[in-house]
Amino acid sequence: MRNSGKEWDLLNKLDREENLTQEEIVILLGCRDRKVEEQLFYLADEKRKKYVGEEVHLRGLVEFSNFCRRNCLYCGLRRDNRKLKRYRMSLEELYNLAEKIALQGLKTIVLQSGEDLAYDAKSLASLIHRIKKLDVAVALSIGEREPWEYALWRDAGADRYLLKQETFDRELFAKLHPDDDFDQRLECQRTLKELGYEVGSGNMVGLPYQTLQSLALDIKKFQEWDFDMIGIGPFVPNPDTPLGEEVSNPEGKYLLTLKVLALTRVLTKTSNLPATTALGTLIPGGREKALSCGANVFMPNFTPSFYQSRYIIYPGKGIEESWENYLLEVKKMIERKGRVASTGYGNRVSSGSGEAGRR
Ligand code: 5AD
Ligand code: SF4
Repeated sequence: MRNSGKEWDLLNKLDREENLTQEEIVILLGCRDRKVEEQLFYLADEKRKKYVGEEVHLRGLVEFSNFCRRNCLYCGLRRDNRKLKRYRMSLEELYNLAEKIALQGLKTIVLQSGEDLAYDAKSLASLIHRIKKLDVAVALSIGEREPWEYALWRDAGADRYLLKQETFDRELFAKLHPDDDFDQRLECQRTLKELGYEVGSGNMVGLPYQTLQSLALDIKKFQEWDFDMIGIGPFVPNPDTPLGEEVSNPEGKYLLTLKVLALTRVLTKTSNLPATTALGTLIPGGREKALSCGANVFMPNFTPSFYQSRYIIYPGKGIEESWENYLLEVKKMIERKGRVASTGYGNRVSSGSGEAGRR
């Protein structure tokens, strides 16, 4: 096959050295030879086995507020989207839900929202403190806040923090984020790491103006920063945003996302990588396929359906009406794939799995 010799050499190098340069990554991302792609996925699956084993960590996700102070061009929760009906869960509601999730046997609770300053740091800290008594790890995904707030939540027992960079391409970042600063966001990551959180980053694949060079840069930055968690998902246009008109090729975007995921697995070795909801939205079965391309985390959504139906970051997300059944389905799917639904906290392996949190 034309040009594929080079790509097979790169796959061999990737297997041997578990590393590639940015330029080499660009070549693999641009290769549309199905055999090369399948071999890359196979390699990622092998490295996943080697570094993080057969366990799939389940994280119970709660989307507790869809208010957001920011205006990211791609996101349905953006401040200027007047079409979205907004909601906020009360702290009591949130606690009760966390309790239900813990009773289902899940060992991580992910509290996610838009950047909503209506929740003050102290109230959130006491909520975290209460939830920690349920013997679960707590992950926060609530955006950019002040260092003292991050510190307060860490002291209250929060274990992890997810704050995706979305892209490590400065120019692209600036185009997409009219009211956010690239360095400011990275500074938050640095602070979170210093405070001893397990820190998550991630990106979107197939953004307007995004090049293979910028995707390769994302992968190298994930490796350099040694993030504990990395969420990789396709960009899904939302018609209620300024980027809703984008004409796209879902199949191409799907494969490209899986390739970014596979390369990230090999280069970061032990990072926890979720099979993102957006992959399943783009192509049916996309999340399951991700588990065979390097992913080892699954995040069932426990947000009550009447709120979930308003947490419209992008269209077609699908709503889970009966989450007890859904959890059973997820566990069956994991078993069908020959994997094991984890019963532990799901910390990053190198930081000592099997303990609640890192302290
Ligand atoms: N398509 C896919 N993912 C999106 N996100 C936001 N908008 C979109 C979109 N249109 C993701 C981002 C962000 C999280 C809130 O959702 O990665 O971190
Ligand atoms: Fe808000 Fe996050 Fe959406 Fe940006 S991506 S608008 S910060 S919820």
